[in-house]
Amino acid sequence: MLHKPLTAALALLCAILPLTSLAAQRPAVLLGDAWYPEQWPEPRWPEDLKLMEAAHIHVVRVAEFAWSRLEPREGQFDLDWLDRAVALAAQHGISVVIGTPSAAPPAWLTQKYPDTLRTEQDGRKAKHGNRQQGSPTSARYREFCRRIAEQLARRFGHNPNVIGWQIDNEYGAFSWDEETHRQFQDWLREKYGTLDALNRHWTTEYWSQTYTDWSQIPMGPGGNPGLDLEFKRFLTASLRDFQHIQVAAIRAASEPRQFITSNFMGWYDVFDHYALTEELDLASWDDYVGSGHLDAARNGMTHDLTRGFKRKNFWVMETQPGFVNWAPVNNALDRGEVREMAWQAVGHGADAVSYWQWRSALNGQEEYHGTLVGADGTPVPLYEEVAQIGREFEQASDALAGTSPMADVAILHSYDSRWAIDNQRHNRNFDPVGLLLSYYKPVHEMLQQVDIVGPAAPLTAYRLVIAPGLNVLPDDVSQRLIEYVNGGGHLVLGPRSGMKDTYNALQPARQPGPLVPLLGGRVEQFYALNDDVPVSGAWGSGKARIWAERLKADGAEVLLTYGESNGWLDGQPAVLSGKAGKGRIAYIGAWLDDTLMRAATQWMIRLAGLQPALGPVPEGVEVSRRVGAAKEVFVLINHTKTPQRSTLPRPMQRVLHDGESASAVDLPPRGVEVLVGQRQALPKLP
Ligand code: GLA
Ligand code: GLA
Repeated sequence: MLHKPLTAALALLCAILPLTSLAAQRPAVLLGDAWYPEQWPEPRWPEDLKLMEAAHIHVVRVAEFAWSRLEPREGQFDLDWLDRAVALAAQHGISVVIGTPSAAPPAWLTQKYPDTLRTEQDGRKAKHGNRQQGSPTSARYREFCRRIAEQLARRFGHNPNVIGWQIDNEYGAFSWDEETHRQFQDWLREKYGTLDALNRHWTTEYWSQTYTDWSQIPMGPGGNPGLDLEFKRFLTASLRDFQHIQVAAIRAASEPRQFITSNFMGWYDVFDHYALTEELDLASWDDYVGSGHLDAARNGMTHDLTRGFKRKNFWVMETQPGFVNWAPVNNALDRGEVREMAWQAVGHGADAVSYWQWRSALNGQEEYHGTLVGADGTPVPLYEEVAQIGREFEQASDALAGTSPMADVAILHSYDSRWAIDNQRHNRNFDPVGLLLSYYKPVHEMLQQVDIVGPAAPLTAYRLVIAPGLNVLPDDVSQRLIEYVNGGGHLVLGPRSGMKDTYNALQPARQPGPLVPLLGGRVEQFYALNDDVPVSGAWGSGKARIWAERLKADGAEVLLTYGESNGWLDGQPAVLSGKAGKGRIAYIGAWLDDTLMRAATQWMIRLAGLQPALGPVPEGVEVSRRVGAAKEVFVLINHTKTPQRSTLPRPMQRVLHDGESASAVDLPPRGVEVLVGQRQALPKLP
């Protein structure tokens, strides 16, 4: 019999050895796919994994819909097959992320316990046969989810080839049953303490809404704006609890080196993603184009949004291998476009790009979706392009290791504000994400680096903070903005900012509410626009569209003025700016056209003393940057259909071409260039 400490040491060695060797093989940025071994006979697995290995796939996500295989009958768990799949993947140098299967409960579960099924908004019960039929607010359903997550964690929490966990899949489905309604009322009671407080903040004298008992409060949406905003927060809190139960079960039985994430859907706004990512180690998202082709600015903005959830690198947990099956027209991305998207993700801070899915199941709702191999198990044409991406990730691994994007400018994004505006758009064309994009696009083009952060993010490191439509301005946020400006920051507010308090009630002061004294000006009146309004001044001339606010300067400088329009706006200020404390604040009262937004951006970055990360490049060439301790990596992508040449401000090494030195790069259409050089310091403030 072996000596006890020796056995322990051996066990430890066995645990560490495969882990370190696999970890050593894993490049800094991973190529992945969604693999469903449960859909195929086991003797087929080695062939699939061999093909993945040949395509330089480094990671697979598994099991997120496999509940009926993992727990075929209540309380009877069968995890052996998954264990074998994970082990086989390891033999091919492929790491594993395990998804908890709570988005797809088995038929026995919802049949025996119908209370675990969601209720749709119209009162109908969800049915088995699709997915997301489980109710995230049902205590019983949560317990079943906890138990399966715990079983998985116990089995795989120390498996050296399992590198992380995904909780559920694309949260968002909600239940409208009586029990959930009661939970909402309890949640309100907990938050407000007294009905008096709730009645006051919601101004319930309006239309006799006054509540004398908590049980009278309806469940949104579509009611009082105060109630509507709280309903969104309650939904967030519910999903957070739902998630937490599984996170806790996994943490209790797994090693800290295994990350926990969940896959989000970009701008999807059913819940507050800052709240849900708080206890996750990593944010990830599912990047789908659907119909048409890559919209580089909007997609880049979505990467930056996701990076901002935890203010660190993220994963693209799913992306489309050519085409999807759910869009109006499921056209394929062009040859080279999948690679273009993969490198865009990396440039914006993705540390993994994973394709959904590896292979089409022979039946099931997604037979037509794009894959990397066909249902017959042989590669589709796109396979080669994906293999190229995998090779390139390996070539770029040393350069990309330890790097992440770093910006001196932040765009403030708030779910409260989006919810409040979307709830009362006033002009149906006022899309808060579209407004954000109108700021993001020129800023990213000119500086090549932007952060998108939530209202609670620390701001002091930024030279410029832009808040495009900060409609809901809670006291703590306005306090931090005031401190930011007084401390020397430059704050630029966009239209509709500072109108509401945290209860979605109108601020007792005109916009921007508590920031009026800092600005030295205010909004006199807002106007939804049918027709464009001419605007001119220090930024040149152009048009206001969708929205225009008539401003009044009370110490601030007027930068733009409206031309002839509805009479009320004629000759009135559209943009104000002034010094405050050690910094500066500006208020842009209209949705400005692209020309004016470019001029506005030039003005902002000049005052903030900012420069592009790399230097000017031809239009349609996107630059993004990842910074390490002493190096910086640039990803250049030609999003146009013609070849483009960019001259570099200093010679750099071409990462995908054996480190060859270059002082200019030639990019074919959809071409990608990855460059590495010495990290440069940011110039001092003017
Ligand atoms: C109707 C109602 C009013 C008010 C106005 C708003 O006329 O009677 O209470 O809602 O519409 O336009
Ligand atoms: C979502 C889901 C996947 C799959 C893809 C198809 O992202 O998470 O399971 O259905 O869509 O595009």
